[in-house]
Amino acid sequence: MPLKAGLERVLLLLSGEHPTMTYSEICAILDSEGMGYDAIAKHDQIFLLDVNPAAMELLGKRSAYLMEGGRLLAQCAANTEDCAKSLENIDWSFLGGKSFGARANRVRNYWRNLDTQELQGMIGGIVKGNTDSIVNLDCPEVWIKGIISDAGVFFYIIGVSTDRSGFTARRPKSRPYFHPGVLEPKLSRAFVNLSGVREGGLFVDPFCGTGGFLIEAALMGMKACGMDLDMRMVNGTGKNVAHYHLDCDLLHGDAKALPLSAIDGISTDPPYGRGTTTMGMDAASVLLGFLRGASGALKKGGKLCTAAPIELNPRRMAQESGFKVIEEHQMRVHKSLTRSIIVVERD
Ligand SMILES: C[S@@+](CC[C@H](N)C(=O)[O-])C[C@H]1O[C@@H](n2cnc3c(N)ncnc32)[C@H](O)[C@@H]1O
Repeated sequence: MPLKAGLERVLLLLSGEHPTMTYSEICAILDSEGMGYDAIAKHDQIFLLDVNPAAMELLGKRSAYLMEGGRLLAQCAANTEDCAKSLENIDWSFLGGKSFGARANRVRNYWRNLDTQELQGMIGGIVKGNTDSIVNLDCPEVWIKGIISDAGVFFYIIGVSTDRSGFTARRPKSRPYFHPGVLEPKLSRAFVNLSGVREGGLFVDPFCGTGGFLIEAALMGMKACGMDLDMRMVNGTGKNVAHYHLDCDLLHGDAKALPLSAIDGISTDPPYGRGTTTMGMDAASVLLGFLRGASGALKKGGKLCTAAPIELNPRRMAQESGFKVIEEHQMRVHKSLTRSIIVVERD
């Protein structure tokens, strides 16, 4: 597909933690901020897109699953001859004398015949041979990367590289208030992003528990509002949010009767009646009741992302509640729990 004006072709290297949600999260972030893009190809952990170059900073700040990315330089078959030819054909004038470093990695175990050290050396040698740039492996002005994937080798400039240490630092047990059944921060962030809320928009988690989703939403600059039927959770979330010097609105109440309107997006992990309590109701009625109420509380076009055990068939419940289903992801948790994660839109 030819490039549209103002867009550039980029490669995003995604984590391999989920086969489909990682790509959807990227699209949801771009959609939320109205950044037009064309999805060019999805390979294993690699997403090729035509986007406005400003999108890289946005994705770097928000995405749970982006590891690094940048402008695509070339793509070729996974053998030394084709790699050398492809590197020789790149117009390296964009370096303009800047120092550079070369790196090569492999996604999973693809194309073991091609050695990453050899590929790294080849990139360095060919760039040196075609430019005045010097190699600096400590702190180069430009990193050039080769990645060996299922679809061959891709060469790109590392424009953004994400720091994932914050997710570990925010692990649920490190917060003042902890309760079992909370999702890890990285997954919570992905859920929030799938709701498609822009910076400054109103995000709601009606089963907020200990506040994991609200913390991620507030960190991304959304107005975060949470609700829980258990007052201990409401108080606990207050402490957790304050622990990160963040702000959010908290309500004590039943998610089946959301007292809110004009919500931009909702993401939530409702109780399944196993590890987390449904406060005496069956999990299916809680989910259906919540979905029915939520469709009226969302703005037109607003999105909702929720998880539920697959046997509850949340897709059907959402359709019955007047939502259009946009996507469904599956996540096996253990032998007796596979989550269905749906993203639905208010018509
Ligand atoms: C799976 S936990 C949510 C965990 C949350 N994502 C977190 O970060 O801690 C589900 C929560 O739903 C709450 N809950 C159960 N029934 C509810 C209802 N009808 N309305 C609102 N909250 C409810 C429970 O008290 C529990 O805190």
